[in-house]
Amino acid sequence: MAGIISSKSEIKRIPLYIQGLDENIEGGVPEGHIVLVSGSAGTMKSSITFNILFNEALKGKVGVYCSLEQSYDSIIQQMVNMNFDMSRVNLVIIKDLAELRTAINKMKSVGNGGLVIVDIGCIRKEIRDVKIADNRSWLNVIKNVVKKIKEEVDCKLFCLDSLSALYVLSRFENPRIELFYLFEFLRDLEITSFLISECQPQSDKYSEFEIEEFLSDGIIHLRLTPFRRNVVREISVVKMRATACNNDIFSLEYKHNKFQALYGGQNPLL
Ligand SMILES: Nc1ncnc2c1ncn2[C@@H]1O[C@H](COP(=O)(O)OP(=O)(O)O)[C@@H](O)[C@H]1O
Ligand SMILES: [Mg+2]
Repeated sequence: MAGIISSKSEIKRIPLYIQGLDENIEGGVPEGHIVLVSGSAGTMKSSITFNILFNEALKGKVGVYCSLEQSYDSIIQQMVNMNFDMSRVNLVIIKDLAELRTAINKMKSVGNGGLVIVDIGCIRKEIRDVKIADNRSWLNVIKNVVKKIKEEVDCKLFCLDSLSALYVLSRFENPRIELFYLFEFLRDLEITSFLISECQPQSDKYSEFEIEEFLSDGIIHLRLTPFRRNVVREISVVKMRATACNNDIFSLEYKHNKFQALYGGQNPLL
């Protein structure tokens, strides 16, 4: 475990790479935090989180993006459409657990950061015949993959896309306990984690069991707000431990190849 710090300057932060918002959260998420990225479908949860891992990979860090529903080619297609130049990062895709060793070796050999996409959908297809007796083992598969990559290439960032898909795949008999151990596992790894949570539009819940909200160090909420016949993208930082943050609602745009949060995003009351 990391030692106890004695000065504020020792808190290192990972930017969200959202112009206008990072300035309002002291520069970013404290390293090692576990952050819920919550929102309904199409609110750009995956894109924003991918953008963080992509930019950190450019700075030399290794990130693991674990996708449970969306296939790796669909993620890449979305990002390329947003003008991401995927050739700028060392990219490794794991579609089969047998590729894990090769993927780790590749990351080790380049040695200057990169992005590992773990496509759980593909992995499931590959091992369907083997029959995983216990559904819960999917969580273990994910944990083992992250742990192995962490041990060998010291990955600093992790994204689970999404917690909601994990609940479908892995039956949680006692969510309170199992989630507690998942969070503890990530904390012990000292890996900055973004857990994506799909929620219903207009819902005031940020997660399925609500316990995730208490366990996490931060909550970023994304939503689509109808305004007359327009729909406005909005973002707010609901919670961020160890950070003096502005919890206001910003409007979110993806313009000139970057995410931008604009102040006063709330629609005027008419
Ligand atoms: N420039 C853009 N290129 C591609 N998709 C965009 C762009 N701007 C906004 N989007 C929207 O992003 C949404 C998908 O984002 P995504 O990160 O997959 O959302 P989520 O993970 O929250 O479901 C789509 O609805 C798409 O219309
Ligand atoms: Mg998504």
